[in-house]
Amino acid sequence: MKDIYILAIESSCDETSVSIIRNGHDDIATIINSQIDVHTKYGGVVPEVASRLHLENITIVIAECLEKANMELKDIDAFACTYAPGLLGSLLVGVEATKTLAFIYKKPFIAVNHMMGHMCANMIGNDLEYPLLSLIVSGGHTDLILMESESKFEYLGQTLDDAIGEAYDKVARILNLPYPGGPNVEKYAGLGKPSYPMPKILNDESFNFSFSGIKSHVNNLCHNAEQRRQKINKYDLACSFQNCVTEHLVSKTKKALIKYNLKTLIMSGGVASNSYIRNALKNMCESIGVTMHVPEKKYCTDNAAMIGAAAYILYRNKKFSDFSVNAKSNVKLESL
Ligand code: KG4
Ligand code: ZN
Repeated sequence: MKDIYILAIESSCDETSVSIIRNGHDDIATIINSQIDVHTKYGGVVPEVASRLHLENITIVIAECLEKANMELKDIDAFACTYAPGLLGSLLVGVEATKTLAFIYKKPFIAVNHMMGHMCANMIGNDLEYPLLSLIVSGGHTDLILMESESKFEYLGQTLDDAIGEAYDKVARILNLPYPGGPNVEKYAGLGKPSYPMPKILNDESFNFSFSGIKSHVNNLCHNAEQRRQKINKYDLACSFQNCVTEHLVSKTKKALIKYNLKTLIMSGGVASNSYIRNALKNMCESIGVTMHVPEKKYCTDNAAMIGAAAYILYRNKKFSDFSVNAKSNVKLESL
């Protein structure tokens, strides 16, 4: 069979990324241009600034990716991009660039849901066996999805309030740690002890998550300490928070694996780059005979390689988009 090369673009938040993926499996070239330095000055992503930077960078990143792959646009079999969910102004830049390329080169245009992209990061350089459980932990999502096949998904649970990445970012702010919050909270947690009492989170039979209560708990602890002029140990508080949310992730995921008798877990999303959480889930999986896959860290946070991997599944299932498809800030992932 002929090799299929897909050029994919990811621009849903603050990374302008372009990738060329062969057969949904091999990463030929990936460029990730992060805007983190600019947004750090504001303490978080400023949507208007993000879309302007995507516009400045997109053609440069496409050219860099082609050069790295030693390929030309005429060698590409299909053009793909993230169309939802994300920041609308940022998404529009990637969608418009991709449509233009597909139109000029008369090749299929493939619009990819960002969450499908995150899950498919596990397919880069890896072959998966179905059915499996997919845990997505990102800045906007905390989802448990049963994948019966590469094209059939069923939501088992999701967060009822904040996403786990959002909770990390908010706790970072409370502790006065710089943006991006998640990696900094992990660093502090690694140097502390779990000495602060934490609440029990949503200890029920559902597969849903909740992270806003623990964030408020951390906020109250800091606020009360401040009023009593007591010092907070940031390392210990970060460690207590991280242990608590990890325990919540592990217990819900374990329950779903057992209930549905699944033998494979895939984890993805920005928070999947957290070593403590990776290890805790890996240990739990080992204890119940489940194989766990987690992408290399560079494929956990936003990148175009995962969009290329997801686009290949859509390509194989002939799920091409027409040019009327537009960027959307929020769309739930559905089976193909
Ligand atoms: O998947 P992602 O890059 O973007 C979204 O689709 O949301 O995830 C970004 C989120 C942010 O909330 C960031 O703080 C969090 O992932 N994150 C982490 C770590 N690295 C990134 N959270 C905890 N520990 C980390 N090492
Ligand atoms: Zn993401």
